[in-house]
Amino acid sequence: MSIEIRNVNKQFGNFQALRDVSLDIKSGELIALLGPSGCGKTTLLRIIAGLETPDVGSIHFSGADTTDVHVRDRNVGFVFQHYALFRHMTVFENVAFGLRVRPRSQRPSEAQIREKVMSLLKLVQLDWIADRFPSQLSGGQRQRIALARALAVEPKVLLLDEPFGALDAKVRKELRRWLRHLHDELHVTSIFVTHDQEEALEVADRVVVINQGRIEQEGTPQQVWESPATPFVYGFLGDVNLFKGRASNGRVYLDDGMQLDSQDAGNVQDRQAFAYVRPHDLEVERYSPGQNLDAQGRPTGIVVQLARALVVGPVARLELIPSESTESTDNAEHGNVIEAHIPARQFQDLGLREGETLVVTPRRAKVFLDEAAGI
Ligand SMILES: Nc1ncnc2c1ncn2[C@@H]1O[C@H](COP(=O)(O)OP(=O)(O)OP(=O)(O)O)[C@@H](O)[C@H]1O
Ligand SMILES: [Mg+2]
Repeated sequence: MSIEIRNVNKQFGNFQALRDVSLDIKSGELIALLGPSGCGKTTLLRIIAGLETPDVGSIHFSGADTTDVHVRDRNVGFVFQHYALFRHMTVFENVAFGLRVRPRSQRPSEAQIREKVMSLLKLVQLDWIADRFPSQLSGGQRQRIALARALAVEPKVLLLDEPFGALDAKVRKELRRWLRHLHDELHVTSIFVTHDQEEALEVADRVVVINQGRIEQEGTPQQVWESPATPFVYGFLGDVNLFKGRASNGRVYLDDGMQLDSQDAGNVQDRQAFAYVRPHDLEVERYSPGQNLDAQGRPTGIVVQLARALVVGPVARLELIPSESTESTDNAEHGNVIEAHIPARQFQDLGLREGETLVVTPRRAKVFLDEAAGI
Protein backbone atom coordinates (compact mmCIF):
# COMPACT_ATOMS: atom_id res chain seq x y z
CA MET A 1 0.00 0.00 0.00
CA SER A 2 1.35 3.41 -0.90
CA ILE A 3 0.95 6.42 1.40
CA GLU A 4 0.41 9.97 0.22
CA ILE A 5 0.77 12.72 2.78
CA ARG A 6 -0.77 15.94 1.51
CA ASN A 7 -0.05 19.37 3.02
CA VAL A 8 -0.41 18.25 6.62
CA ASN A 9 -0.44 20.97 9.28
CA LYS A 10 -0.85 20.37 12.98
CA GLN A 11 -0.98 22.83 15.81
CA PHE A 12 -1.03 22.19 19.57
CA GLY A 13 -2.32 25.40 21.14
CA ASN A 14 -0.08 28.10 19.69
CA PHE A 15 2.62 25.64 18.79
CA GLN A 16 2.97 24.60 15.16
CA ALA A 17 4.11 20.97 15.34
CA LEU A 18 3.86 20.19 11.58
CA ARG A 19 4.12 22.71 8.75
CA ASP A 20 2.79 21.80 5.37
CA VAL A 21 4.23 18.30 5.26
CA SER A 22 3.81 16.47 1.94
CA LEU A 23 5.39 13.14 1.15
CA ASP A 24 4.80 10.19 -1.17
CA ILE A 25 5.75 6.76 0.08
CA LYS A 26 5.79 3.92 -2.40
CA SER A 27 4.27 0.55 -1.68
CA GLY A 28 6.83 -1.70 0.02
CA GLU A 29 9.22 1.12 0.80
CA LEU A 30 11.08 1.48 4.09
CA ILE A 31 11.28 5.17 4.98
CA ALA A 32 13.22 6.70 7.86
CA LEU A 33 11.94 9.90 9.44
CA LEU A 34 14.98 11.55 10.90
CA GLY A 35 15.11 14.68 13.03
CA PRO A 36 15.92 16.12 16.44
CA SER A 37 13.76 15.68 19.50
CA GLY A 38 10.51 17.63 19.27
CA CYS A 39 10.63 18.12 15.49
CA GLY A 40 7.28 16.37 14.96
CA LYS A 41 8.16 12.77 14.05
CA THR A 42 5.77 11.08 16.48
CA THR A 43 3.03 13.56 15.64
CA LEU A 44 3.32 12.70 11.95
CA LEU A 45 3.22 8.95 12.67
CA ARG A 46 0.16 9.36 14.89
CA ILE A 47 -1.59 11.28 12.13
CA ILE A 48 -0.80 8.55 9.60
CA ALA A 49 -2.10 5.93 12.04
CA GLY A 50 -5.28 7.93 12.64
CA LEU A 51 -4.56 8.47 16.33
CA GLU A 52 -4.45 12.22 15.68
CA THR A 53 -6.16 14.37 13.05
CA PRO A 54 -4.40 17.04 11.02
CA ASP A 55 -5.76 20.62 11.20
CA VAL A 56 -5.19 20.95 7.48
CA GLY A 57 -4.23 18.33 4.89
CA SER A 58 -4.93 14.67 4.41
CA ILE A 59 -3.45 11.19 4.36
CA HIS A 60 -4.22 8.83 1.47
CA PHE A 61 -3.60 5.09 1.41
CA SER A 62 -3.10 3.93 -2.19
CA GLY A 63 -4.92 7.02 -3.37
CA ALA A 64 -7.93 6.74 -1.05
CA ASP A 65 -8.48 9.51 1.49
CA THR A 66 -8.31 8.08 5.02
CA THR A 67 -9.85 11.09 6.76
CA ASP A 68 -13.03 9.21 7.65
CA VAL A 69 -11.39 5.84 8.18
CA HIS A 70 -11.17 4.80 11.83
CA VAL A 71 -7.82 3.76 13.31
CA ARG A 72 -9.13 0.21 13.65
CA ASP A 73 -9.87 -0.01 9.95
CA ARG A 74 -6.66 1.52 8.63
CA ASN A 75 -4.73 -1.73 8.77
CA VAL A 76 -1.77 -0.11 10.45
CA GLY A 77 0.70 -1.84 12.75
CA PHE A 78 2.28 0.44 15.31
CA VAL A 79 5.33 -0.07 17.52
CA PHE A 80 5.37 2.81 19.96
CA GLN A 81 8.30 4.85 21.09
CA HIS A 82 7.74 3.88 24.71
CA TYR A 83 6.32 0.51 23.88
CA ALA A 84 4.28 -1.34 26.36
CA LEU A 85 3.71 -5.03 26.17
CA PHE A 86 0.84 -6.21 28.31
CA ARG A 87 2.62 -7.15 31.51
CA HIS A 88 0.11 -9.65 32.72
CA MET A 89 0.13 -11.59 29.43
CA THR A 90 2.69 -14.07 28.18
CA VAL A 91 4.69 -13.39 25.05
CA PHE A 92 2.32 -15.68 23.18
CA GLU A 93 -0.79 -13.86 24.39
CA ASN A 94 0.75 -10.46 23.64
CA VAL A 95 1.27 -11.45 20.03
CA ALA A 96 -2.14 -13.13 19.80
CA PHE A 97 -3.94 -10.08 21.22
CA GLY A 98 -4.72 -8.31 17.96
CA LEU A 99 -6.30 -11.48 16.55
CA ARG A 100 -8.34 -12.28 19.66
CA VAL A 101 -9.99 -8.84 19.82
CA ARG A 102 -11.33 -9.10 16.29
CA PRO A 103 -15.10 -9.29 15.92
CA ARG A 104 -16.22 -12.90 16.13
CA SER A 105 -16.97 -13.14 12.42
CA GLN A 106 -13.39 -12.24 11.50
CA ARG A 107 -11.63 -13.97 14.35
CA PRO A 108 -9.43 -16.93 13.37
CA SER A 109 -9.91 -20.26 15.12
CA GLU A 110 -7.78 -21.13 18.14
CA ALA A 111 -5.66 -23.46 15.98
CA GLN A 112 -5.13 -20.74 13.36
CA ILE A 113 -4.16 -18.25 16.06
CA ARG A 114 -1.66 -20.68 17.51
CA GLU A 115 -0.10 -21.33 14.13
CA LYS A 116 0.06 -17.64 13.22
CA VAL A 117 1.58 -16.57 16.56
CA MET A 118 4.17 -19.33 16.53
CA SER A 119 5.21 -18.50 12.97
CA LEU A 120 5.61 -14.83 13.92
CA LEU A 121 7.64 -15.76 16.98
CA LYS A 122 9.86 -17.87 14.72
CA LEU A 123 10.21 -14.90 12.39
CA VAL A 124 11.50 -12.71 15.22
CA GLN A 125 13.52 -15.71 16.46
CA LEU A 126 11.85 -15.87 19.83
CA ASP A 127 9.57 -18.90 19.58
CA TRP A 128 11.48 -20.46 22.44
CA ILE A 129 10.23 -17.91 24.96
CA ALA A 130 6.53 -17.95 24.06
CA ASP A 131 5.48 -18.75 27.63
CA ARG A 132 7.47 -16.05 29.37
CA PHE A 133 6.16 -12.77 30.67
CA PRO A 134 7.53 -9.41 29.48
CA SER A 135 9.40 -8.84 32.75
CA GLN A 136 11.44 -11.96 31.97
CA LEU A 137 12.75 -10.59 28.66
CA SER A 138 15.67 -8.37 27.75
CA GLY A 139 14.93 -4.96 26.19
CA GLY A 140 15.85 -6.17 22.71
CA GLN A 141 13.62 -9.23 23.06
CA ARG A 142 10.71 -7.03 24.15
CA GLN A 143 11.15 -4.84 21.08
CA ARG A 144 11.07 -7.86 18.81
CA ILE A 145 7.92 -9.11 20.53
CA ALA A 146 6.35 -5.67 20.10
CA LEU A 147 7.16 -5.94 16.41
CA ALA A 148 5.70 -9.46 16.19
CA ARG A 149 2.55 -8.17 17.87
CA ALA A 150 2.27 -5.35 15.36
CA LEU A 151 2.73 -7.81 12.48
CA ALA A 152 0.12 -10.29 13.76
CA VAL A 153 -2.80 -8.46 12.18
CA GLU A 154 -1.01 -8.39 8.81
CA PRO A 155 -0.85 -4.63 8.56
CA LYS A 156 -0.60 -2.95 5.18
CA VAL A 157 1.47 -0.23 6.83
CA LEU A 158 3.97 -0.59 9.64
CA LEU A 159 4.83 2.44 11.77
CA LEU A 160 7.86 2.13 14.04
CA ASP A 161 8.51 4.96 16.46
CA GLU A 162 12.11 4.70 17.66
CA PRO A 163 11.66 0.99 18.21
CA PHE A 164 15.25 0.56 19.40
CA GLY A 165 15.58 3.85 21.25
CA ALA A 166 16.12 2.41 24.69
CA LEU A 167 18.73 -0.17 23.75
CA ASP A 168 22.51 -0.12 23.85
CA ALA A 169 24.51 0.56 20.71
CA LYS A 170 25.46 -3.04 19.93
CA VAL A 171 21.94 -4.44 20.27
CA ARG A 172 20.54 -1.52 18.26
CA LYS A 173 22.91 -2.33 15.46
CA GLU A 174 21.94 -6.00 15.45
CA LEU A 175 18.25 -5.19 15.53
CA ARG A 176 18.36 -2.69 12.69
CA ARG A 177 20.11 -5.21 10.42
CA TRP A 178 17.53 -7.72 11.45
CA LEU A 179 14.71 -5.23 10.76
CA ARG A 180 16.10 -4.59 7.29
CA HIS A 181 16.14 -8.35 6.57
CA LEU A 182 12.62 -8.70 7.91
CA HIS A 183 11.45 -5.86 5.71
CA ASP A 184 13.09 -7.42 2.67
CA GLU A 185 11.15 -10.59 3.43
CA LEU A 186 7.74 -9.06 4.10
CA HIS A 187 7.73 -5.86 1.99
CA VAL A 188 5.29 -4.09 4.26
CA THR A 189 5.29 -0.34 3.58
CA SER A 190 7.12 0.91 6.67
CA ILE A 191 7.95 4.19 8.31
CA PHE A 192 10.70 4.08 10.84
CA VAL A 193 11.30 7.03 13.17
CA THR A 194 14.71 7.71 14.61
CA HIS A 195 16.89 10.57 15.68
CA ASP A 196 19.99 8.51 15.04
CA GLN A 197 21.41 9.43 11.64
CA GLU A 198 23.53 6.32 11.32
CA GLU A 199 20.49 4.15 11.95
CA ALA A 200 18.45 6.03 9.34
CA LEU A 201 21.19 5.85 6.71
CA GLU A 202 21.79 2.16 7.26
CA VAL A 203 18.23 0.88 7.36
CA ALA A 204 16.14 2.99 5.02
CA ASP A 205 15.46 3.02 1.29
CA ARG A 206 14.78 6.72 1.64
CA VAL A 207 15.48 9.20 4.41
CA VAL A 208 13.24 12.15 5.24
CA VAL A 209 14.92 14.81 7.36
CA ILE A 210 12.55 16.88 9.48
CA ASN A 211 13.33 20.06 11.37
CA GLN A 212 10.84 22.12 13.38
CA GLY A 213 7.83 20.49 11.79
CA ARG A 214 9.03 20.88 8.22
CA ILE A 215 10.64 18.49 5.75
CA GLU A 216 14.14 19.79 5.07
CA GLN A 217 15.14 17.13 2.59
CA GLU A 218 14.19 13.70 1.33
CA GLY A 219 16.31 11.33 -0.68
CA THR A 220 18.24 8.09 -0.66
CA PRO A 221 20.74 7.75 2.17
CA GLN A 222 23.49 8.52 -0.31
CA GLN A 223 21.75 11.65 -1.65
CA VAL A 224 21.17 13.22 1.75
CA TRP A 225 24.66 12.33 2.91
CA GLU A 226 26.49 13.45 -0.25
CA SER A 227 24.38 16.50 -1.06
CA PRO A 228 22.72 17.98 1.99
CA ALA A 229 20.19 20.56 0.77
CA THR A 230 20.38 22.89 3.75
CA PRO A 231 22.82 23.84 6.51
CA PHE A 232 20.58 22.02 8.95
CA VAL A 233 20.87 18.73 7.08
CA TYR A 234 24.61 19.23 6.77
CA GLY A 235 24.97 19.62 10.50
CA PHE A 236 22.52 16.90 11.42
CA LEU A 237 23.99 14.18 9.21
CA GLY A 238 27.44 13.69 10.60
CA ASP A 239 30.17 15.93 11.89
CA VAL A 240 30.89 19.12 10.06
CA ASN A 241 33.12 22.19 10.36
CA LEU A 242 31.64 25.60 9.72
CA PHE A 243 33.79 28.42 8.36
CA LYS A 244 32.46 31.93 7.94
CA GLY A 245 33.48 34.46 5.33
CA ARG A 246 32.34 36.49 2.36
CA ALA A 247 31.68 35.41 -1.21
CA SER A 248 32.18 37.24 -4.51
CA ASN A 249 32.30 35.98 -8.07
CA GLY A 250 32.76 32.30 -7.34
CA ARG A 251 35.36 32.84 -4.66
CA VAL A 252 34.94 32.62 -0.91
CA TYR A 253 37.16 34.65 1.41
CA LEU A 254 37.11 32.97 4.79
CA ASP A 255 37.68 34.85 8.01
CA ASP A 256 40.69 32.63 8.71
CA GLY A 257 42.51 34.18 5.74
CA MET A 258 42.01 31.25 3.39
CA GLN A 259 40.23 31.43 0.05
CA LEU A 260 38.16 28.84 -1.79
CA ASP A 261 36.71 28.56 -5.24
CA SER A 262 33.08 27.55 -5.13
CA GLN A 263 30.35 27.19 -7.71
CA ASP A 264 27.86 27.78 -4.92
CA ALA A 265 29.12 31.37 -4.80
CA GLY A 266 28.80 31.89 -8.56
CA ASN A 267 27.12 35.16 -9.47
CA VAL A 268 27.23 37.02 -6.21
CA GLN A 269 28.89 40.15 -4.90
CA ASP A 270 30.17 40.44 -1.36
CA ARG A 271 27.62 38.21 0.31
CA GLN A 272 28.01 36.57 3.68
CA ALA A 273 29.01 32.94 3.18
CA PHE A 274 29.15 29.79 5.28
CA ALA A 275 31.43 26.98 4.14
CA TYR A 276 30.69 23.50 5.48
CA VAL A 277 33.49 20.96 5.44
CA ARG A 278 33.34 17.36 6.65
CA PRO A 279 36.22 16.37 8.95
CA HIS A 280 37.45 13.77 6.45
CA ASP A 281 37.53 16.37 3.67
CA LEU A 282 40.30 18.32 5.38
CA GLU A 283 43.88 17.82 4.19
CA VAL A 284 46.37 18.03 7.05
CA GLU A 285 50.06 18.98 6.67
CA ARG A 286 52.83 20.09 8.97
CA TYR A 287 53.27 23.88 8.90
CA SER A 288 56.54 25.40 7.79
CA PRO A 289 56.88 29.21 7.71
CA GLY A 290 56.99 30.69 4.24
CA GLN A 291 55.46 27.59 2.67
CA ASN A 292 51.84 26.58 2.22
CA LEU A 293 51.31 29.72 0.12
CA ASP A 294 49.80 30.01 -3.33
CA ALA A 295 51.33 31.91 -6.30
CA GLN A 296 49.97 35.19 -4.93
CA GLY A 297 51.52 34.55 -1.54
CA ARG A 298 48.19 33.81 0.12
CA PRO A 299 47.86 30.95 2.57
CA THR A 300 46.44 27.83 0.94
CA GLY A 301 45.01 26.61 4.20
CA ILE A 302 44.32 27.52 7.79
CA VAL A 303 47.17 27.51 10.27
CA VAL A 304 46.16 25.57 13.33
CA GLN A 305 47.51 24.03 16.47
CA LEU A 306 46.98 20.34 17.15
CA ALA A 307 45.23 20.47 20.51
CA ARG A 308 44.35 16.81 20.82
CA ALA A 309 44.63 13.65 18.79
CA LEU A 310 42.40 10.68 19.35
CA VAL A 311 43.59 7.58 17.58
CA VAL A 312 41.20 4.68 18.01
CA GLY A 313 41.01 2.14 15.23
CA PRO A 314 41.68 3.18 11.63
CA VAL A 315 40.91 6.90 12.02
CA ALA A 316 42.81 9.67 13.80
CA ARG A 317 40.49 12.40 15.04
CA LEU A 318 42.31 15.69 15.39
CA GLU A 319 41.09 18.67 17.39
CA LEU A 320 42.64 21.75 15.87
CA ILE A 321 42.57 25.33 17.09
CA PRO A 322 43.12 28.09 14.52
CA SER A 323 46.38 29.82 15.45
CA GLU A 324 44.97 33.29 14.92
CA SER A 325 42.19 32.63 17.35
CA THR A 326 44.18 31.08 20.19
CA GLU A 327 44.46 34.53 21.82
CA SER A 328 40.92 35.57 21.05
CA THR A 329 38.49 34.95 23.88
CA ASP A 330 35.63 35.46 21.45
CA ASN A 331 36.52 32.37 19.50
CA ALA A 332 37.40 30.39 22.57
CA GLU A 333 33.96 31.10 23.96
CA HIS A 334 32.37 29.81 20.81
CA GLY A 335 34.43 26.65 20.95
CA ASN A 336 35.99 27.33 17.57
CA VAL A 337 37.62 23.94 17.20
CA ILE A 338 38.23 22.45 13.78
CA GLU A 339 37.85 18.69 13.60
CA ALA A 340 39.80 16.72 11.04
CA HIS A 341 39.75 12.98 10.46
CA ILE A 342 42.75 11.42 8.77
CA PRO A 343 43.76 7.78 8.40
CA ALA A 344 45.57 6.57 11.53
CA ARG A 345 48.34 5.27 9.27
CA GLN A 346 48.93 8.78 7.87
CA PHE A 347 48.93 10.22 11.37
CA GLN A 348 51.65 7.78 12.39
CA ASP A 349 53.68 8.32 9.21
CA LEU A 350 53.68 12.07 9.77
CA GLY A 351 54.66 11.52 13.40
CA LEU A 352 52.39 14.33 14.55
CA ARG A 353 52.51 15.45 18.19
CA GLU A 354 50.00 17.38 20.22
CA GLY A 355 50.93 21.07 20.37
CA GLU A 356 52.40 21.13 16.84
CA THR A 357 51.46 23.74 14.26
CA LEU A 358 49.73 22.36 11.18
CA VAL A 359 47.96 23.60 8.07
CA VAL A 360 44.53 22.31 7.09
CA THR A 361 43.07 22.70 3.61
CA PRO A 362 39.53 21.75 2.62
CA ARG A 363 39.45 19.27 -0.24
CA ARG A 364 35.73 19.81 -0.62
CA ALA A 365 33.37 22.41 0.81
CA LYS A 366 29.71 23.20 0.47
CA VAL A 367 28.99 26.92 0.56
CA PHE A 368 25.66 28.41 1.64
CA LEU A 369 25.03 32.13 1.22
CA ASP A 370 23.72 34.56 3.83
CA GLU A 371 20.00 33.79 4.00
CA ALA A 372 20.72 30.15 4.76
CA ALA A 373 22.16 30.93 8.18
CA GLY A 374 24.68 28.84 10.06
CA ILE A 375 23.77 25.76 12.07
N1 LIG B 1 -0.65 16.46 22.68
C1 LIG B 1 0.22 17.49 22.61
N2 LIG B 1 -0.05 18.68 23.16
C2 LIG B 1 0.81 19.70 23.09
N3 LIG B 1 1.99 19.66 22.47
C3 LIG B 1 2.32 18.50 21.88
C4 LIG B 1 1.47 17.35 21.93
N4 LIG B 1 2.08 16.35 21.26
C5 LIG B 1 3.26 16.85 20.83
N5 LIG B 1 3.40 18.14 21.20
C6 LIG B 1 4.55 19.00 20.87
O1 LIG B 1 4.78 18.94 19.49
C7 LIG B 1 6.17 18.87 19.20
C8 LIG B 1 6.47 17.64 18.38
O2 LIG B 1 6.31 16.49 19.21
P1 LIG B 1 6.65 15.04 18.72
O3 LIG B 1 6.28 14.11 19.81
O4 LIG B 1 6.01 14.83 17.39
O5 LIG B 1 8.22 15.13 18.56
P2 LIG B 1 9.27 14.01 18.13
O6 LIG B 1 9.93 14.46 16.89
O7 LIG B 1 8.61 12.69 18.12
O8 LIG B 1 10.33 14.10 19.34
P3 LIG B 1 11.15 12.91 20.09
O9 LIG B 1 12.33 12.58 19.23
O10 LIG B 1 11.58 13.58 21.36
O11 LIG B 1 10.22 11.77 20.31
C9 LIG B 1 6.88 18.92 20.55
O12 LIG B 1 7.30 20.24 20.78
C10 LIG B 1 5.81 18.51 21.54
O13 LIG B 1 6.02 19.12 22.77
MG1 LIG C 1 8.78 10.99 19.26
